[in-house]
Amino acid sequence: VERVTIPVLQRCKEEGRRIVMTTAYDAVTARIADPIVDVILIGDSVGNVCLGFDNTLPVSMAMMNHHLDAVARTRARALLVADMPFLSFHLSIEETIRNAGGFLQRGAAAVKLEGGAKRIEMVRALVDCEIPVMGHLGLTPQSVNVMGGFKVQGRKADDALRLLDDAHRLQEAGCFALVLEGVPAELAARATEFLTIPTIGIGAGPSCSGQVLVFHDVLGLTESHRPKFVRAYTEGFQLLQEALSRWAADVRSGAFPGPQESYGLPQGLGETIAN
Ligand code: KIV
Ligand code: NA
Repeated sequence: VERVTIPVLQRCKEEGRRIVMTTAYDAVTARIADPIVDVILIGDSVGNVCLGFDNTLPVSMAMMNHHLDAVARTRARALLVADMPFLSFHLSIEETIRNAGGFLQRGAAAVKLEGGAKRIEMVRALVDCEIPVMGHLGLTPQSVNVMGGFKVQGRKADDALRLLDDAHRLQEAGCFALVLEGVPAELAARATEFLTIPTIGIGAGPSCSGQVLVFHDVLGLTESHRPKFVRAYTEGFQLLQEALSRWAADVRSGAFPGPQESYGLPQGLGETIAN
């Protein structure tokens, strides 16, 4: 099987084939997703999806490395993109390069980081070190305190124009793709039209070059509130809980394990241990 590379994604945009991206945080989810999607994101959403935090701000480089390692060990064919967590690309160029370069040494093919004009210097520094960067604009979850919650962005004229300007700057700085999250569909369509790099939407309407959803959201594994942009393709949480409860009932009734799930002694040894 051919591995997905950054030029493959660029060709997708040029040929009008939509890019499919989801998250994976461990080897199981990576193995499920790998034959199906083009891009696997080791997202900092691991913080709220898997680690029980309310948002992504407490996610550290150590946590991201731990999850990236688990995904990378599967030798996925999909393009692996590792998310730069809060404060891993803000403090200095040197620390940013060390963190992002470390992701590549652990098996990621690219990094993703949130933000526009303020982050251009860091994006340029990474691209100069041969570290491919995916941008991320709009409802950037690491900005939750500034936004005053998880709210759709770019609904005011100046915000919409700033987003388009940021998108242009990120492309100029060398980003190979751009996630657009929680923005009006028309704005994402406009960005997709004038950018040459692919856009990957989440809550950004149908006109992006591709779509990303969190693995656990697609499969209905997140029990709490589902944002408007999520479509769950199965009720994974209930489905898995139902199967687990059938096993628990069988344990309690004595129906599990049966002979098929049990080991026997070799012929004749039965009497030996009985006496
Ligand atoms: O962390 C994440 O899962 C993300 C995607 C939703 C784009 O950043
Ligand atoms: Na993220």
